Amino acid sequence: MRAQKTGSPWRIGVLFSRTGFMSVIEETQYYGTMLAIEEINSAGGVNGRELIPVIYDPGSEALSFGHFAKRLMIEDSVSTIFGCYTSSSRKAVLPVVERLNGLLWYPTLYEGFEASPNVIYTGAAPNQNSLALCRFLMKTYGNRFYFIGSDYIYPRESNRVMRELIKESGGSVVGERYLNIRARRQDFLPVVNEIRRLQPDVIFSTVVGDGTVFLYQTYTEAGLDPRTMPIASLTTTEAEIRAMGFDVGEGHITAAPYFEGVPGAANATFVTNFKKRFGDDCSTNMCVESSYFQFYLFAKALEQANTLDTDVLRSMVLGTTFSAPQGQVAVDPLSGHTDLWTRIGRANRRGQFDILDESSSAVHPDPFLIGYGRAMAGTE
Ligand code: ACM
Repeated sequence: MRAQKTGSPWRIGVLFSRTGFMSVIEETQYYGTMLAIEEINSAGGVNGRELIPVIYDPGSEALSFGHFAKRLMIEDSVSTIFGCYTSSSRKAVLPVVERLNGLLWYPTLYEGFEASPNVIYTGAAPNQNSLALCRFLMKTYGNRFYFIGSDYIYPRESNRVMRELIKESGGSVVGERYLNIRARRQDFLPVVNEIRRLQPDVIFSTVVGDGTVFLYQTYTEAGLDPRTMPIASLTTTEAEIRAMGFDVGEGHITAAPYFEGVPGAANATFVTNFKKRFGDDCSTNMCVESSYFQFYLFAKALEQANTLDTDVLRSMVLGTTFSAPQGQVAVDPLSGHTDLWTRIGRANRRGQFDILDESSSAVHPDPFLIGYGRAMAGTE
């Protein structure tokens, strides 16, 4: 990227909720995106042209994501969009980018079983998080699981995969509940009472947003003990732990490609710059990190393509690698998903995750779980 800015700016869309029940995590994705944009602009932009984000706040409403995606592409003439946390918001944007040939950069773990030519997926597919988590939980805590999720596509589909894995390994699911994604704190009490009655070995949570905070707080108030019956999750990051209280989160388990405590120079620089920009009490998390590195993947492709034309840009992205804070990542040319690291963390008293297990290299994405026996072996 050259040092001086010339020519008209590159306009791109940014769609993350900064208000509503999903803002606890989506605002951090917004921060990760903005940090990358600011860094690239202060180094001269891309091919001498500044990056200008066109930003909307969909307010945690899935349908608003579709509405704003349409506005970005039709009224604002933007073809590249960075955004979405929930799978329901991604499903609302999908027909828009497919119909109008846009490119959505999606930085969130999800349930898999999708591969759109109009999406670059930089969050984990189930073979990059669920498999390793299932194996770790069965080895460490036992084989009787209780599922609690928010009621939308990601938790239901993700639990379908988890149930298959558990069953194949001789375990069982002793209870399964879904609460409205807008559930209030008191809605979690009957669930926690049922958990206390059923005494599973592990609670597997696919609750998202503010509901995560309510679930863990209700669990703590009920006097349950994470040393013997932890909540295990793929969605509880440093951001939700901060919102619920470090003491409430302590001892619970999350599988993710990235935690703030990942060692290495790339992550140390990233964490320092993030805290300098957003405050010392803000932690990075897997969603900040994927939002950040995917923007660098985009900028690298744009530098080569020198156009925001979706077809040209996408062809430049596929197969590229980047030295991300989590380690080296690469975009798989076949699926548009990303090779990512698999890590298991346990939250500590400082709101950080102690890393208990990790893959020896980035795990290849297998969004349709075609060969997941091999993927599981990859986390040895
Ligand atoms: C999600 O909804 N993909 C977490």
